[in-house]
Amino acid sequence: MASLPLPGFIINRLRAAWRLPAVQALSLQVLAALVLWLLLLLWGYVKPSAPASIGIAVLMQGAIAALLARWRKLAVWWWIIQFVFPLSLFLAVTLQLPPIVYLIAFLMLFVLYWHTFRTQVPYYPSTFAVWDAVAQLLPADRAVRVVDIGSGLGGFVLNLASRRPDSEIMGVELAPLPWLVSWLRAHMSKSRGRFIRADYAALDFSQYDAVFAYLSPAAMSALWDKAQTEMRPGSLLLSNEFMIEHHAADLVIQTEQMRTPLYAWYI
Ligand SMILES: C[S@@+](CC[C@H](N)C(=O)[O-])C[C@H]1O[C@@H](n2cnc3c(N)ncnc32)[C@H](O)[C@@H]1O
Repeated sequence: MASLPLPGFIINRLRAAWRLPAVQALSLQVLAALVLWLLLLLWGYVKPSAPASIGIAVLMQGAIAALLARWRKLAVWWWIIQFVFPLSLFLAVTLQLPPIVYLIAFLMLFVLYWHTFRTQVPYYPSTFAVWDAVAQLLPADRAVRVVDIGSGLGGFVLNLASRRPDSEIMGVELAPLPWLVSWLRAHMSKSRGRFIRADYAALDFSQYDAVFAYLSPAAMSALWDKAQTEMRPGSLLLSNEFMIEHHAADLVIQTEQMRTPLYAWYI
């Protein structure tokens, strides 16, 4: 296999890193700090006797970083994160909490969000109305194998397993904490739903009659490619909330109870 020369390799790695929103957000905070510093220098020339308050400077840093995120067309939640980040840092320093608090908070977030940095799919649950819509789409006259890719705390799998005792319902979750919670819930409720801790990228979709996903816009294009390559003809790909660009769904279900639409593609 021909390998790239070192500078080309490094540039490619840097480009890949730059595509991660978290890397852009952090770089924009640094840029915002430079802009703020210039503004404060200018302010010092205009009004040398009035030192800027640190609180105002922190708010300005957040506002500039949020504007820069908007300029870079990052998703709306990044504007909010950018604004809140310097404020949280400031509060953390001011409150002088014992270091163990930060360690515990970090570990909790780490096991909850795990590879969100890479997958760009954080945890947020789907609703009962969506589970209802999925249950109605599945064939009722035969047993089915269904997988929830990114099963979070397991609500979807446990609910479907109780509705379909004839079928095999499974959840795959990458993050350890949600997986552990879902596994415990299944054991405690004696559910037939199964949970494994794995990356759904390593799963063979041809084993399932239906694949349910509640992921994020960033994951949809690769999911479509995987579904096209692996899923059997006649099987069903379902996505809550997120559609797939350039591939219109065969069905779009949106009832009054549903906050978000459910998209379905017959492969
Ligand atoms: C939006 S939540 C959906 C939870 C659940 N499916 C539901 O409908 O309530 C997405 C979940 O997918 C998990 N996830 C993201 N990428 C994954 C991957 N490559 N393999 C397995 N799980 C993944 C996240 O950790 C998160 O818990």
